Amino acid sequence: MAATLIPEYLRCEYLVNPLGIDVACPRFSWIVRAERRAQRQSAYQILVADSEDALAAGEGDQWDSGRVESDQSVHIAYAGPTPHAGRRVWWAVRVWDGDGQASPYSAPAWWEMGLLEPADWHGTWIGLGEVADDRGVLALADEENVSMAVDLEPSPYLRTTFTVARPIRRARLYVTARGLYEARLNGGRVGDVVLTPGWTDYRTRIQYQTYDVTDLLRQGDNALGVILAPGWYSGYVGFGKNRRHYGAHPRLLAQLSIDYADGTIETVASDGSWRGATGPIRFSDLLMGEYYDARRELVDWDASGYDDAGWTPVSDEERDATPLVADRAEPVRVTEEVAPISITRVDADTQIVDLGQNIAGWVRLRARRAAGAIIQLRHAEILDSNGALYTENLRSAGATDTYIPHGEDEEVYEPRFTFHGFRYVEVTGYPGDLTSDDITGRVVESDAPAAGTFECSQPLINQLQRNIAWGQRGNFLSVPTDCPQRDERLGWLGDAQIFARTATCNRDVAAFFTKWMRDVADAQSPEGAFPDVAPRLVDLSDGAPAWGDAGVIVPWTLYQVYGDTRIVEEHYDAMARWLAYIGEANPDGLWVNRRNNDFGDWLALDGDAVRDPGASATPKDLLATAYYAHDARLLARMARAIGRVADATRYADLFARIRNAFIAAYVSDDGHVKGETQTGYVLALHMDLLPKGLRAAAATRLVERIKEKDWRLSTGFVGVGYLLPVLAEAGHLDVAYRLLLNDTFPSWGYSIKHGATTIWERWDGWTAERGFQDPGMNSFNHYSLGSVGEWLYRYVAGIDIDPEQPGFQHIIIRPHPGGELTGAKAAYRSVHGVIESAWRIEDGTFRLRVTTPANTTATVYLPMRDTAVIMEGDQPIASAVGVTIERMEDTHAVLTIGSGVYDFVVTLSP
Ligand code: BGC
Repeated sequence: MAATLIPEYLRCEYLVNPLGIDVACPRFSWIVRAERRAQRQSAYQILVADSEDALAAGEGDQWDSGRVESDQSVHIAYAGPTPHAGRRVWWAVRVWDGDGQASPYSAPAWWEMGLLEPADWHGTWIGLGEVADDRGVLALADEENVSMAVDLEPSPYLRTTFTVARPIRRARLYVTARGLYEARLNGGRVGDVVLTPGWTDYRTRIQYQTYDVTDLLRQGDNALGVILAPGWYSGYVGFGKNRRHYGAHPRLLAQLSIDYADGTIETVASDGSWRGATGPIRFSDLLMGEYYDARRELVDWDASGYDDAGWTPVSDEERDATPLVADRAEPVRVTEEVAPISITRVDADTQIVDLGQNIAGWVRLRARRAAGAIIQLRHAEILDSNGALYTENLRSAGATDTYIPHGEDEEVYEPRFTFHGFRYVEVTGYPGDLTSDDITGRVVESDAPAAGTFECSQPLINQLQRNIAWGQRGNFLSVPTDCPQRDERLGWLGDAQIFARTATCNRDVAAFFTKWMRDVADAQSPEGAFPDVAPRLVDLSDGAPAWGDAGVIVPWTLYQVYGDTRIVEEHYDAMARWLAYIGEANPDGLWVNRRNNDFGDWLALDGDAVRDPGASATPKDLLATAYYAHDARLLARMARAIGRVADATRYADLFARIRNAFIAAYVSDDGHVKGETQTGYVLALHMDLLPKGLRAAAATRLVERIKEKDWRLSTGFVGVGYLLPVLAEAGHLDVAYRLLLNDTFPSWGYSIKHGATTIWERWDGWTAERGFQDPGMNSFNHYSLGSVGEWLYRYVAGIDIDPEQPGFQHIIIRPHPGGELTGAKAAYRSVHGVIESAWRIEDGTFRLRVTTPANTTATVYLPMRDTAVIMEGDQPIASAVGVTIERMEDTHAVLTIGSGVYDFVVTLSP
């Protein structure tokens, strides 16, 4: 009998065949594919072997799980011996179906360990020491550029040579920088990733990357070269024009390990024997931009024959005890190219390029016979009313790339160690007219795999979804940032916690957030305070309410979406310390003390946000107490999930105590919530902080408050994410749709009507009446207000998690048709495979196509009235394969389905 189940998409620690990890017992996951409906995995067996041959022979010489009776197909922890540094291990899995029929073993997958112990590293940190400024060159640029760049330094080019004398089995390059690096071997670039090694608190941990460079080496003479730049380490980061946060100059640590066919190993590491020089990159800074003088190119500097006699010895410094850790998330890459939609000549020297999309990244430029030119690229998100570049909102971020051409027939330039948040590029000094072949937008982001798509019958909502997804792409760059354009770009926790669930809908951000949660943990204070930003930099404060709480909410989200309990275990103590930190100062349950920056419902429109972005009418102690309660409730549930039963009770009690204090302090007997703000009601309802009997009254009051604003929202960052979910849950779906579809100020639609291609930081970033908001804080690419995105997937299309069974092995499908929508569809790639929900209303019928992956089940809520006839395909549901009718409610039929594709048709008689 042919196998009914096929295991595929094997992943290890969320990654496909990860090269260079340092997890001792990595977890395995796979997806089960089935041709027929309602298929479950009844058992699995995993083999782990030292070689591909052993695996092919069916030997699990490192680990054989044996046959395990279980439907678990994600996060199964390896329990064999930890492979030593550099070792690659192979694995495969087979599964049994419900009838006891086994699949063949999957195609082999592998993981490879990186360097694990300090002793595995041999190199020293090297660099160019104090690099002199080179004002002579910069004087070619215009005044503004000179003053901006005056204290920036040229990029070090570092090189060494070595000889390969025998046949090679394999070679790996382990490399990192204090700063940014680009590694090159024998004239070619190593890897396809950019802005490495990524941002961490370099005082606490430094990530390294591993590259398979076997094919880049050759018999005989070889050259290894690396270019460095300041990046987050010593360049400008954050507001206030501050740089050198972690150190003064960039440094390299590299180790090339060559395994010869004869079994010997040779290591080429960064050390005092390397030589260095400066070259064409006169400076390159994340905020300021890059200055590249092609006339100073060091031709063939990364090839073995190059004469580096004029280069200087490098400075070299012993490694200290700072842990070097394997990069555990998807790297930052150029993921897409965007062609201009228009190029406008403004004057003899100036052209403005419109990419049609606000992105994070840079442009690639082609010039022809441009000797003597100074080409300057200034970036902006938006144009002013005169059609000129609007850069005031970038604050001190220079966002300017300068290119001095060589003068060849054709030359191509793109920067390496900077990025900009922009849609428009002003090009000056370019000889001739630019064509759309000459300039291309390069989209740069953490390359997290695509997860979801959403589409519906309303173009406005589809644009909203696109803006949310682009906002995410522009801000998930090594860490989740607030914005990619101005002198800020920090890992704000408040923004991350409100957007995290939406982020999971669009991309698989499991590895990305797993990495960032380490940054959050690194930034926790000895007293237990999570920070406002992680890595903790520039804003050094302890976390404000709704900001610090990301330390609890993000692991909770990963647990819910990916069924990941290891993230909960890893951060459990940190979460407990955060609650203790709040509790110590607030023994009565109200979070009145230790609120640190106390941002409140940031950028809400019910206070005086024009003058004070934090001046929401939502009482700040109320908001804080709601979050404190929420943390306690989530931690109680996470404690239960990892078997800490006593703690679960303790935190449930804490939640009850805070809840009682909240009700006593802020809730009137008739269900009014103090402050009478939308956000106040939303938090109280969402976080279960009202007596059961008052929930409906409070929801009615929320609707009244919205009505009093002429059916408009007034929430800031904190309330916005839960606003529509709360309305839908409370039976006010119509109001939720009304807010969603609104295009008058303030609304998501208003920004779209005025050309937004990303989510704005502020509802009033630009208004017809006032023009631009205060340039001191006015980004056009901030994802926080895009936290409505989860509502589109979870409510409009109706794909949701069963909170009692996190991780989508049991799925909730519950579309919420409403508004003027005649249809919507979403596809979401969960850890178990792709889930789809697509509905449309047509000729009095409601049609719903549901797809669920093998080895899952779903509860489907079909909207209906009592006279409805429900079919699945051409069968009445009662006889459809894989469908069980659970119950008929007044407004819904509730069904359980197994895996597969189901076509439901509900005919509503007139
Ligand atoms: C950032 C935010 C952040 C906030 C703190 C702003 O400057 O851009 O997104 O959360 O400060 O309230």
